Amino acid sequence: MGVIDLFCQSSSCFVDRRKPNPSCLFEGKLRRGTITFMTPPASSSAVPVKEESQQEGGCSLTGDSFIRPHLRKLSPYQPILPFEVLSTRLGRKPEDIVKLDANENPYGPPPEVFEALGSIKFPYIYPDPESRRLRAALAEDSGLEADYILAGCGADELIDLIMRCVLEPGDKILDCPPTFTMYEFDAAVNAALVIKVPRKLDFSLDVNRIIEVVEQEKPKCIFLTSPNNPDGSIIDDETLLKILNLPILVVLDEAYIEFAGIESKMRWVKKYENLIVLRTFSKRAALAGLRVGYGAFPLSIIEYLWRAKQPYNVSVAAEIAACAALENPAYLEVPGATSISALPMACNLLAETA
Ligand SMILES: Cc1ncc(COP(=O)(O)O)c(C=O)c1O
Repeated sequence: MGVIDLFCQSSSCFVDRRKPNPSCLFEGKLRRGTITFMTPPASSSAVPVKEESQQEGGCSLTGDSFIRPHLRKLSPYQPILPFEVLSTRLGRKPEDIVKLDANENPYGPPPEVFEALGSIKFPYIYPDPESRRLRAALAEDSGLEADYILAGCGADELIDLIMRCVLEPGDKILDCPPTFTMYEFDAAVNAALVIKVPRKLDFSLDVNRIIEVVEQEKPKCIFLTSPNNPDGSIIDDETLLKILNLPILVVLDEAYIEFAGIESKMRWVKKYENLIVLRTFSKRAALAGLRVGYGAFPLSIIEYLWRAKQPYNVSVAAEIAACAALENPAYLEVPGATSISALPMACNLLAETA
């Protein structure tokens, strides 16, 4: 028989193999007394189980009856094709393909990243659950203290984590299409409803309509993208302040901020309790394949994300690569600056082909 500390999340289960039917035995101290558990017999499982007679007679229960009803209706997210698949399909080498379907940064990461990845010392050890090195580097980079920063397996993970912490099934989020479709997808996964306030013809936000909808429908949070995907439009400070004034959690996604030549709003989270700012290494440092994003949160919110996040959400390789990228800030500025200066040329080419 083994002993388990009920208050330690990472305790193990020991099995007594000397017994004919080994069972998992737990023993721990609960307040004053000591208690002993045995794994319950299969029949008392919390998971719906087929009755013996049903199984024998060929019952109608199928695997999907275990799936939560709202997920049975979920349409899958349409991800991009991996480079290798694309390359085979097109009959071209990956190096000869200019991939534009997922807004990856084609310039590649700074050389420091390759060096650091090539000399990882402890890949067999779990990563730091608090991503301390990375958060310290991000604090330096952003001018916001590390306590306000949480790293994730891409900004995508943080979008889902925020929803998991904030939304009850049936709660509403406000979305402003055309925009990044992950907000709508994650809302569906989290059984939330999406209210759409489409952008105006020039892609700016319809602030008056947003105000009306917040009053009438009381959505819990709004997802704003600045610069917006797909059009690159930026939300000005006046507009953002109007929305921050509403009783709604504002998630400002700055995945492309480095390509706009404007300052991040990360530091605003110290002033606005209803603001979250998301950023990513996928675009700024060309690390989309390593999956590392980060967010700035008010302290009153971040506490709960720490509790709910997966402990090892940022891999050893992702943290090492992101830290190495931040060592070369001059390199990180190049893609943004180049993209901005190449914009008129790209517009002309598009106009010619239209
Ligand atoms: C607006 C926006 N936010 C977030 C992401 C995803 O970022 P990450 O790769 O860090 O998950 C994307 C990816 O295209 C995006 O367009």
